[in-house]
Amino acid sequence: MKMNAAILWDAHQDWSVEEVELDGPKEGEVLVSFEATGLCHSDHHPRAGDAPAALPVVGGHEGAGIVQEVGPGVTTLKPGDHVVASFLPACGRCRWCSTGQQNLCDMGEFIMKGVMLDGTYRRHAQGRGVGAMSLLGTFAQYGTVAEASLVKIDEDLPLSRACLIGCGVTTGWGSAVNTAKVSPGDTVVVIGCGGIGSGAIQGARIAGAEKIIVVDIVEDKREKAFLFGATHFSTSIAEATELVRELTRGVMADSAILTVGLVEGPMIGEALELVRKGGALVLTALAPFSDITPTLPMSMFTLFQKRLLGSLYGEANPRADIPRLLSLYREGKLLLDETVTTEYKLADVNRGFDDMLAGKNIRGVILHDH
Ligand SMILES: NC(=O)c1ccc[n+]([C@@H]2O[C@H](COP(=O)([O-])OP(=O)(O)OC[C@H]3O[C@@H](n4cnc5c(N)ncnc54)[C@H](O)[C@@H]3O)[C@@H](O)[C@H]2O)c1
Ligand SMILES: [Zn+2]
Ligand SMILES: [Zn+2]
Repeated sequence: MKMNAAILWDAHQDWSVEEVELDGPKEGEVLVSFEATGLCHSDHHPRAGDAPAALPVVGGHEGAGIVQEVGPGVTTLKPGDHVVASFLPACGRCRWCSTGQQNLCDMGEFIMKGVMLDGTYRRHAQGRGVGAMSLLGTFAQYGTVAEASLVKIDEDLPLSRACLIGCGVTTGWGSAVNTAKVSPGDTVVVIGCGGIGSGAIQGARIAGAEKIIVVDIVEDKREKAFLFGATHFSTSIAEATELVRELTRGVMADSAILTVGLVEGPMIGEALELVRKGGALVLTALAPFSDITPTLPMSMFTLFQKRLLGSLYGEANPRADIPRLLSLYREGKLLLDETVTTEYKLADVNRGFDDMLAGKNIRGVILHDH
């Protein structure tokens, strides 16, 4: 079938919205009509040249939609089912899936390869195969995707909000709840208030943090940060460090979560100053793949027992956590309507990313036409 999709042909170019030929589902695959997709900073890294995704690629990995057709061997979904597309697939059988670490599923090796799990393409444009970001390619009206990437959700939930659970909100939430292990009474710092950071603020709030200090260089994020649960706001890590010192009488924060758009080496050392003895700095944001030299006061790990913890998808188990977070949304405890700052058409995808980079959005969402 033919559809419109946004392709990244090469780094440092705009997204190109054009007609793409989509093949139907093969063994273990599902054809989905995507209704909505979030604009996550991770889609921008290959465009900026910070991450080495295979190109060309149909972008987008934070989507939700409706199943249209299932291929042979698909057992968990049927036409009409509403689904969230998870940016990491979960096979359910590998070592990681079977030990409650679905975010580390072995199928994850495909998320930047472009091709499907069998090594071939389902999308074609201008006479060649085109990949799909995170095996999904949600910047498109339709997608042929692996059953392992889809999680069925209740039909009363708005797909324009549920899409955020496929990456950003879950990643931020889990960075606080699962990786930082925020406990009641904690002091938590969240650095960067975008789609991921706002999820981290909400995770910290619901986990019972007493003080949530949000840092963002964009002053306009202050109001939204408080809405999500911040108790304090700063526009620099240095200013926040003094504030945390004052608020905790010199003890410092139990944890800090780094969710800026792009990590620069010196930020890690700076952010480590925010946490107490035995505290944790959670690294959720991506650094350029070529950057392998953070400047770190290494003695802090030994003498103050500080910990630097990576967090992929907030250590979430998509099959359990996507319905769980949507249930919190339905109960009014997880704010998703407030997370969506601007809604766009697919044709506006470049403007959406310009707005993200200018700090105008918590999250931009594309609503697809059909
Ligand atoms: N670990 C994972 O599984 C995972 C998943 C999704 C996204 N990510 C990464 O998380 C990061 C955040 O993604 P996003 O979509 O929320 O990005 P975003 O661009 O929407 O938000 C980033 C925020 O950080 C702020 N910021 C930028 N520089 C700052 C600085 N020096 N100090 C304080 N704030 C600063 C920006 O103003 C913006 O509000 C990206 O690097 C993305 O690739 C990681
Ligand atoms: Zn993402
Ligand atoms: Zn697995």
